[in-house]
Amino acid sequence: MPEYRNLQVEIDGGVVTVTIRRPDRLNALNRATIEELGVLFGELGENEEVRGILLTGSGSKAFVAGADIDELVQMGPLDAVEVSRLGQRVFREIELSRKPVVAAVNGFALGGGCELAMACHLRVASSTARFGLPEVTLGIIPGYGGTLRLSRLVGRGAALGLILTGEMIDADEALRIGLANRVVEPDALLAESRGLLQSIIRNGPVAVGFAIESTVRGQELALDDGLALESHLFGVLAATEDMHEGMRAFLEKREADFKGR
Ligand code: COA
Repeated sequence: MPEYRNLQVEIDGGVVTVTIRRPDRLNALNRATIEELGVLFGELGENEEVRGILLTGSGSKAFVAGADIDELVQMGPLDAVEVSRLGQRVFREIELSRKPVVAAVNGFALGGGCELAMACHLRVASSTARFGLPEVTLGIIPGYGGTLRLSRLVGRGAALGLILTGEMIDADEALRIGLANRVVEPDALLAESRGLLQSIIRNGPVAVGFAIESTVRGQELALDDGLALESHLFGVLAATEDMHEGMRAFLEKREADFKGR
């Protein structure tokens, strides 16, 4: 795996832990870090050893405290469109990853950090985590998909409550509205997130990838188009060795040995 300046990447038993590391900026996403995430997720998609990805922030204070305001302040309108498109493209790649991505939210997940967490498939929050989209307090709006993903995750009313006030919510409130999937004590965060990923990657990898695709794309399609996609993917799975193995293992009362084909 190549070296990254702002990301620490470790692989263990099929799970890659990616730690965003800009501790003196509370892991704020500058352009270089977003570009690195794009390159890394491209690599992880191709790497057959990788079955699942855990994304977190360095230190105990922040997951990611937003886009890097030192960079934002220098931008003109064309740079702003360009950086927004870059973030949207990379976050979309994360969202459409066929390998499950869990955000371990270890502190502030604000602005671009909240948007990054929302692009992940699941979010496990430390009880110290704080979520928010404070962009309007800076005179901008979320530009990495936040207005769209938050309303899809929690509904338009709750989304507008956060987006228009710019206020932060704590982990329990994030759990209540469906922004976080689980809340755990800070020292249990990584183990819990890994355990969640392990329970996913035990399943048929092709099925997991298709389940992500059907759920994510399906939410964006008209119902009949989403249903057509779902039955197409369902049909393709019927041609995989994994489907036969999964069903045989059930009938033989043993653990399935999935091969990803
Ligand atoms: N971009 C650039 N630098 C950031 C940053 C960001 N999004 N968030 C934090 N930092 C920097 C701070 O400027 C500070 O740098 P300094 O030590 O050189 O002064 C350092 O990280 C520590 O942050 P600080 O504000 O001192 O910590 P705090 O505990 O007082 O407050 C936050 C923590 C998260 C509430 C506060 O940093 C904050 O509001 N950050 C911006 C959040 C935001 O609006 N994000 C959306 C951007 S679109």
